[in-house]
Amino acid sequence: METIKGFEISKHEKSKRIINIKIADEILEKLIFPFNKFNITALEYKPFTRFTLAKSLDDLTFNKLSKLMNSIIRDRATGCFIIGPKNISSKIDDNFLVKLSTSIAHLIGNPNHDSMTGKYYARFFVKHEDKSDSYLRKAYTNMDLHTDGTYVNEITDWLLMTKIEEHNVEGGETAMLHLDDWEHCKDLFNDPVGRKNFFWGSPKSKNIDYKVEHPVFSVDNNGKPQISYIDQFPEPKTMAQGNFLQKLSDGLEESKNKVITKLPVGSAIVANNYFWLHGRKPFKENEDLSRELLRIRGSFFIN
Ligand SMILES: [Fe+2]
Repeated sequence: METIKGFEISKHEKSKRIINIKIADEILEKLIFPFNKFNITALEYKPFTRFTLAKSLDDLTFNKLSKLMNSIIRDRATGCFIIGPKNISSKIDDNFLVKLSTSIAHLIGNPNHDSMTGKYYARFFVKHEDKSDSYLRKAYTNMDLHTDGTYVNEITDWLLMTKIEEHNVEGGETAMLHLDDWEHCKDLFNDPVGRKNFFWGSPKSKNIDYKVEHPVFSVDNNGKPQISYIDQFPEPKTMAQGNFLQKLSDGLEESKNKVITKLPVGSAIVANNYFWLHGRKPFKENEDLSRELLRIRGSFFIN
């Protein structure tokens, strides 16, 4: 496996398809000065500053980090990595993690506008109480396996999810499933219903006032299946479509090949959005439960 000075790179303990990238203290120390150059408002208002941050991270590795991350995320055999500080110190606060996440994202591609927050990223809490209209913040419900960007016009090649902090958390593990590990993939992929367009809408909190049309399954350049699916947003118009979605949902949730993992605080999971599905196990009930997440979704740079 690749070596980069100041980084520990290894296979995830539960899946050969997920690569762990741990950033040593010496690198984090070196990031403090360049990261202090911009505050969060500057990052939000001036897109070029995000590239400046990303460059400062990549320069520390002689551009090896961007090469590694891009090769992992585009490779069908892997397509996912978890990156974060090896050790969490008091210097790594939430602003530092926003900047680190921004840097990582901008070494892979361009972030999409996140309509939920009106920014290039979204920070949100999962807590005991929730009045929202989607499963995103419902702590005690399983968040079923899905891909992102199913109901928007923008291309969503990848997604990044950073755990900013959490307290009083039991359960709530990340669930991941690679299409090539999924027992029912061939069966569902070969069903013609899945290859025809569905309508996709979204609830009010997402701030998207249009609907899109696309199939659940498509084919990549090598003839391999790609999926764009989430349980809540397709609008079946026929019995065949309804039955197909039910079969798909059941087939995903009953899979024995999900990777269930606890994302460390301060770490980001970055996944290819065409052949990895992601979800979350329910939390154990606790009135003081709190988890803060940051997400960025985007497209690859076009080279
Ligand atoms: Fe998601």
